[in-house]
Amino acid sequence: MSNTTSDDSLITTEVQADSNDDRAASAAETAVAARDLNVYYGDERAIDDVTMEIPEKRVTALIGPSGCGKSTFLRCINRMNDMIEICRVDGDVEFGGKNVYDTDVDPVALRRKIGMVFQKPNPFPKSIRDNVAYGLKIQGFDGDVDKRVEESLKGAALWDEVKDQLDSSGLELSGGQQQRLCIARAIAPDPEVILMDEPTSALDPVAASKIEDLIDDLAEQYTVIIVTHNMQQAARISDRTAVFLTGGELVEYDDTAKIFEDPEEQRVEDYITGKFG
Ligand SMILES: Nc1ncnc2c1ncn2[C@@H]1O[C@H](COP(=O)(O)OP(=O)(O)O)[C@@H](O)[C@H]1O
Ligand SMILES: [Mg+2]
Repeated sequence: MSNTTSDDSLITTEVQADSNDDRAASAAETAVAARDLNVYYGDERAIDDVTMEIPEKRVTALIGPSGCGKSTFLRCINRMNDMIEICRVDGDVEFGGKNVYDTDVDPVALRRKIGMVFQKPNPFPKSIRDNVAYGLKIQGFDGDVDKRVEESLKGAALWDEVKDQLDSSGLELSGGQQQRLCIARAIAPDPEVILMDEPTSALDPVAASKIEDLIDDLAEQYTVIIVTHNMQQAARISDRTAVFLTGGELVEYDDTAKIFEDPEEQRVEDYITGKFG
């Protein structure tokens, strides 16, 4: 058992982040649930019997050492693992009262509801407007595209910087702006969940900090599930933290303050205090 108190928190950061308190105070419905989830690449197991419920309109951080299965778990949620030939998923991922692996689920429609943002910003070699409108065109959106583009860019805190250059290429933006463009692209189809896989690790600290602020705003409207190897970041921005350790085991999952101040598991304490990983 840990003897730590909030006075000697395991990491040197403000874990009781101001803005998260309102959200933490009220109960949340479950947005996504994994049940007895196992994931294999060939014979190698990457996720080991994980069951967890992820709350709606909260920020949930997935942390743990490299190779512990964070990205694999994230990709299960919107079936991005379907694209990996040798990957086999066993168990359920529930979303909207349905197992996303049921045969009648259309993965393309699922990915509109559960958008994804990657580590490296990956805008298309298209205009800023067309990047954001991309998903809308595919889904045959018949509303006001320009209006939705504007709303999405505002939602991604990018509008003021690009509103006079919507026809220039997304690739001309800075790294941090490109990542916010990718976030705008992800929110344009009006998803419920946004998955982010280390979204700031390729960015400089100022750009990363902007994305962190944005994530806090996004949680007003969306369920955010973020993989990060940066523990300070998890502590700053998330409401709930799941700690995965080697072998794809979910070792502890709780309110973020609890994980960082007084974890139940010695292995989690060792990881958070930097004894390994
Ligand atoms: N496409 C893949 N093919 C084979 N093995 C993979 C693939 N992706 C991940 N793995 C393996 O699955 C395990 C978990 O990887 P990953 O989910 O990427 O971990 P993390 O994101 O925590 O670093 C690792 O052992 C990794 O080598
Ligand atoms: Mg990863």
